[in-house]
Amino acid sequence: GSISGGCPFTGHGETRDLLGRTNRDWWPDALQLDILTQHGLQADPMPDFDYAEAFNTIDYKALKQDITDLMTDSQEWWPADYGHYGPFFIRMAWHAAGTYRTGDGRGGSSSGQQRFAPLNSWPDNGNLDKARRLLWPIKQKYGKNISWADLFILTGNVAIESMGGPVFGFGGGRADVFEPETVYWGTEELWVDQGVETRIIPDEGKALENPLAAIQMGLIYVNPEGPGGNPDPLQSARDMRETFARMAMNDEETVALTAGGHAFGKAHGAKPADTFGGAPEGEALALQGFGWLNDEEEIAKGNITTSGIEGAWTPNPTQWGGDYFRLLFKYDYELVESPAGAKQWQPVNPDEEDMAPDARDPSLKVPTMMTTADMALKMDPDYRKISERFRDDQAALDDAFARAWFKLCHRDMGPKVRYMGPEVPEETLIWQDPVPAGSQPSDSAVSDFKSKVLDSGLTVAELVKVAWASASTYRNSDHRGGANGARIRLAPMKDWEANEPETLSRVLSKLDEIRGDLSMADAIVLAGAAAIEKAAKDGGHSIKVDVTTGRGDATDEHTDAESFEPLEPFADGFRNYLRTKAQVKTEDMLVDKAHLLGLSIPEMTALVGGMRALGAVNAHPTHGDSIGVFTDRPGTLSNDFFVNLLSMDTKWEVVDESGDEEFVGKDRKTGEERYRATRTDLVFGSNSQLRAIAEVFAENGGEAKFLDTFVTAWTKVMDADRFDLRCAKYHG
Ligand code: HEM
Repeated sequence: GSISGGCPFTGHGETRDLLGRTNRDWWPDALQLDILTQHGLQADPMPDFDYAEAFNTIDYKALKQDITDLMTDSQEWWPADYGHYGPFFIRMAWHAAGTYRTGDGRGGSSSGQQRFAPLNSWPDNGNLDKARRLLWPIKQKYGKNISWADLFILTGNVAIESMGGPVFGFGGGRADVFEPETVYWGTEELWVDQGVETRIIPDEGKALENPLAAIQMGLIYVNPEGPGGNPDPLQSARDMRETFARMAMNDEETVALTAGGHAFGKAHGAKPADTFGGAPEGEALALQGFGWLNDEEEIAKGNITTSGIEGAWTPNPTQWGGDYFRLLFKYDYELVESPAGAKQWQPVNPDEEDMAPDARDPSLKVPTMMTTADMALKMDPDYRKISERFRDDQAALDDAFARAWFKLCHRDMGPKVRYMGPEVPEETLIWQDPVPAGSQPSDSAVSDFKSKVLDSGLTVAELVKVAWASASTYRNSDHRGGANGARIRLAPMKDWEANEPETLSRVLSKLDEIRGDLSMADAIVLAGAAAIEKAAKDGGHSIKVDVTTGRGDATDEHTDAESFEPLEPFADGFRNYLRTKAQVKTEDMLVDKAHLLGLSIPEMTALVGGMRALGAVNAHPTHGDSIGVFTDRPGTLSNDFFVNLLSMDTKWEVVDESGDEEFVGKDRKTGEERYRATRTDLVFGSNSQLRAIAEVFAENGGEAKFLDTFVTAWTKVMDADRFDLRCAKYHG
């Protein structure tokens, strides 16, 4: 069977909290600053700062030169192995980008999260506190014009270049955040170094839960010593394949990245690590954010332990080349233990010239090594074919590594128009989800189309649902999805159950028929706006739903269909859609989706209530399209959902005791059934914070506030992916 978890929220075992374990579980004693971010106060000192614009003002050449010079400017407090920090910085950049996961698009390089817990203290990020601190003088010099997020990745690029390696380009403009992101990292309290078990155990039918992409808590990907420390290269290959796929990497990219990365540098396992300090987040105040290895004497002697594995992969650890594969295939490797007690593989009887220099004393020769994960590239039959090809064709490795590295570091940046700076590659890549430029329709074409839509026979609910389906794939996490491109017409989106394929196809054909010169992408959004304006008018309110036109239409050739699969909603509370009961509560999934859409609590609330009033809910197997629609005038934009939800005239009971997902609302006096509801509906009456917002929308005079919030939120979702407008001004 598959070892891949399906739904992002299903998995194994008990119902879990949306966020799993968080920093507060791991560092209960850490200073809690979040009481200062209540009531809308910001943690960000410059919340409206435009990083993209600032990046374009940098003297990019000078910045790169400064980074290059830093590579060989060894500091006594953390001397550079082989006199070159390049490999160390590549690992820093790889771990900054490598938290990205396709399941929810979270993690990744784009916000500088490595500065914050838990990532600053992940066992896998051991000693990267020093790498970031080495960069501080450069960050300080260029100030806010370069974000930490950009600096991590650019430094990785410069490191590769300065050691003769191939790079494909660099796009800047990542914006720093100033607080830890709330991301689901898993439910385990213990981390990899505390003996927590591995997340894939096929024998027990245990799959890696989505959206997680690491095999154990505290790792970026896999355990280098093999699954759970078991030095089995084939099982390691299994874990690598699964985790790298979660980061959108196929076998070839995985092999190129791992081998290419390990062309450089060394692993550190000079001594058992138990004498060293704790992770940065929990360390003593005087250490000033440093953790792990802090003993100056040991550092000076070169007794560095990070992973516990010891040694370089190649004889030339600061020079790009083909030695990694040459050695991997030239020698048999035997299992040995490092001085720190880690399991690793060592070539049998290596030739003198295939030994590595000592990191501090180049006149000494030491054996090279491979981790169990490296051995997977030789032992796994599919990886091996790729590895042999790369061994025999250096140019192919160069190209594959450069491209895979570029993808690794830019995968979560969204459309190419968001990339800033002089090194943005010309070539457009399929994983950038390209959308051909659209054109601006005339005002008369727009108003013409809107009136045709209202005469088309399509209902308000249908038009609103299709516009929502088109735009709501957007994820603020990796900036994928959205209405631009009208990929709703294409596989796989057109066939998603949540999109009610038959209705969708009927609505799209009709829109296509009447759209004239408009792009389909614009037509879909305009049709939604026309429907909402009509629905408000039917309720006695004249409102305008602004549409920013100019969207283009993508085709199948622009679309890597498989890569869109993780965007499929398994629940969409806004449409009252739930495929199957998940491992987290259904209302949690609404909150998660609202977060990915960049919505505030009032915006989420207004959208849910508004879409219910419009009747824009998915068809329920037994109750049709009435579930959650607490109004006797569906299709009219009103605050009825809130008014009726809060009314004491209705008494709610759970219908399906087992599932706790469906509820009936009865007239409190007569006992007559009035409404059906889901958890997503009733949470707006049950949760005290949501109820408070529902009251604002339901109270006398609240309807105007409701309409205003609804339209703002709706427009925000429709325009969420319009980077073509927001960023185009920086591309001269
Ligand atoms: C170092 C494991 C993939 C680049 C290391 C170390 C380990 C490791 C255990 C030693 C850390 C230390 O003790 O200092 C793995 C595993 C991988 C993987 C298990 C995937 C299966 C990658 C990738 C890259 C990369 C994709 C970059 C493209 C590096 C570099 C170093 C390193 C440059 C040397 C750091 C230094 O010299 O300080 N890796 N790695 N690795 N890794 Fe990886």
